[in-house]
Amino acid sequence: MSEHDDRILDEHQMDEDMEVEMSLRPEYLKQYIGQDAMKNNLAVFIQAAKIREEALDHVILHGPPGLGKTTLSNIIANEMEVNIRSTSGPAIERAGDLAAILSSLEPGDVLFIDEIHRIPRAVEEILYSAMEDFFIDVIIGKGEEARSIRIDLPPFTLVGATTRFGSLSAPLRDRFGVQLRLEYYDVDSLITIVERTSEIFNVEIDPDSAVELAKRSRGTPRIANRLLRRVRDFSIVKEEESISMETTNHALSVLEVDSMGLDPVDHRIMNTIIDTYGGGPVGLETVAVSIGEEVVTLLDVYEPFLIQQGFLERTPRGRKATGKSYEYFKDNGK
Ligand SMILES: Nc1ncnc2c1ncn2[C@@H]1O[C@H](COP(=O)(O)OP(=O)(O)O)[C@@H](O)[C@H]1O
Ligand SMILES: [Mg+2]
Repeated sequence: MSEHDDRILDEHQMDEDMEVEMSLRPEYLKQYIGQDAMKNNLAVFIQAAKIREEALDHVILHGPPGLGKTTLSNIIANEMEVNIRSTSGPAIERAGDLAAILSSLEPGDVLFIDEIHRIPRAVEEILYSAMEDFFIDVIIGKGEEARSIRIDLPPFTLVGATTRFGSLSAPLRDRFGVQLRLEYYDVDSLITIVERTSEIFNVEIDPDSAVELAKRSRGTPRIANRLLRRVRDFSIVKEEESISMETTNHALSVLEVDSMGLDPVDHRIMNTIIDTYGGGPVGLETVAVSIGEEVVTLLDVYEPFLIQQGFLERTPRGRKATGKSYEYFKDNGK
């Protein structure tokens, strides 16, 4: 396996990952751990829609990868007791594709569009009338024969997910009545998630190992679950009855996850800014080129956590390393 295939943070997931993830997804709000403020709001909106016997207002879920957006879209459909159709922005190539999906919806259904910031502009325009007034205008025929016909849609709920809320156009953004931002999880929530997952996997884990995994998961359930699976492998080979702290520490060091959950790419980003560019400010594109990563990966996956941890600052002139980062990366240089 190449270094790239083995990454903890890879956003291009392997099939095995996808399958395991499906089996780990909570199905109802009460099983969804953490994110309390967001969850309580959503529960009220769902309950109110059910009392009014109306479709739930359109919902946009935004936040970094692995925090539970796809999971929530399914939970919304389950809680509303409706069907869900799932697609993604890049999968909808033409307006006709979207028209076909929309006209197949039943009243109240959820249409989930993942990565909605990547929807083509011509397709996006169809969404405006669909979301606001539940109709679409479809062009039939070509050239002089072309005419537009109006198709009425049942009331439905569009649930969009994005890692890039800022990239949505204002008209699209404004049509979502419910805007929910997912935050990185606190350690307590991640401990509960690790415990829940180990129960589903049917493996024992020492309490201090669960804490350690939670602390080193970048506030992200997907990463907590992934690390748990790898750590479990080491534990199985050692024939342990319960995943020990020793094995956890050993596995995480082999996986190159540091004490804060940072991986070698995080270290390269910060060391490049600190050593090569004198702490910044430096453009993100320049950093990406220097370390051989794609800008979008840095933007979506790495930067948000480094900023949240207080290592990196975004300024009008580029990225800057904070005082805290000098201390941390001086001692943890790789
Ligand atoms: N609040 C949560 N409670 C328990 N597990 C969660 C929670 N949020 C996410 N997960 C787990 O993390 C994994 C990734 O979640 P997912 O919804 O695919 O994230 P996203 O769509 O935001 O990238 C899922 O397998 C799910 O089991
Ligand atoms: Mg997702």
